[in-house]
Amino acid sequence: MADFYGAQDAGEIVIGGSMSALTFHISRSISHNFRPGDEIILTNFDHEGNVSPWLHVAHDKGLVVRWAEVNRDTWRIEPESVAALISDKTRLLALGYASNFMGAVNNVAEIVALTREAGVLSYVDAVQYAPHGPVDVGSVGCDFLVSSAYKFFGPHLGVLWGRRDLLESLPAYKCRCSPEQLPWRFETGTSAIEQQAGLTAAVDYFAWLGGKLGTQGSRREQIVEAFRASQDYEAELSTPLLEGLLKLPNVDVFGPRPGAEANGVERVPTVSFRHSSLSPDHIARALAELQIFVWQGHNYAYEMAKSLGIEAEGGVRIGLAHYNTVAEVERTLAALNKLLS
Ligand SMILES: Cc1ncc(COP(=O)(O)O)c(C=O)c1O
Repeated sequence: MADFYGAQDAGEIVIGGSMSALTFHISRSISHNFRPGDEIILTNFDHEGNVSPWLHVAHDKGLVVRWAEVNRDTWRIEPESVAALISDKTRLLALGYASNFMGAVNNVAEIVALTREAGVLSYVDAVQYAPHGPVDVGSVGCDFLVSSAYKFFGPHLGVLWGRRDLLESLPAYKCRCSPEQLPWRFETGTSAIEQQAGLTAAVDYFAWLGGKLGTQGSRREQIVEAFRASQDYEAELSTPLLEGLLKLPNVDVFGPRPGAEANGVERVPTVSFRHSSLSPDHIARALAELQIFVWQGHNYAYEMAKSLGIEAEGGVRIGLAHYNTVAEVERTLAALNKLLS
């Protein structure tokens, strides 16, 4: 996982049950010296896994929560909206890398640079980004980053990276006699070693793919190459999908449009939409009858769904990955055309 995250030091990798479980666990350590009246910045871009743990911390510690809001033109958190919230009381920013609802990718490096300058800790949720692009903790520049292995074709585990100095100095909520060394001070109880074997295999898969694409370099270089190729391929899938959805009558599509990259706005191939009268549940079931599997609801992007006024029903989400094909995108669009026109 150090290779997967571009980390220099494998001791900085902490493995846990899931992203949400790890975040609930370590948020207690991160916030141990936060004081009443201190502030934390959360966003309406984020999945609940990077919101609820911090809301609990805020409640327990008497912290003030400041909310950064998604810009409706770019569908991401713009650096200015975070900059405007930073004060001398700010202790932490919790920020999503990519949205699991509208697919927008935040410019995390630029936003995290602002918090670093202000001495504010940053906790990045890379769950939705990690299956689609190369994570590089060095260039992101954050203090903590977490993802979830089942999203990148591995087993159900969460994986956290944190700066060694922080992981060593934070108090660990652990058994008295369990080791003080990293990563075990944060890996409480007996590790799921059979799952971890699966995790290694998932990382090896990306290295294998990079090797197949001709990269002879290190495991890290092969992983990065696999993701570069995957990003190009996934763009060939998401562009026709978006173009097709945007042509459907009475459909609202959430997230960056084709061509947004020209303005520096990136996306992963995760696309959500709503129809003016047919419910997301109805549409998802009708597609399932045709063996086309999509998801529906707010998908735990609960704050975003609330901001859009659709928290009750959410949207239909089509989540592509590098194993999908243009033919599948065409078949999905043809089915939607028939259903919605
Ligand atoms: C963006 C994002 N963050 C966090 C999570 C939570 O991950 P986990 O299921 O490992 O707790 C998810 C899961 O869907 C997600 O999509």
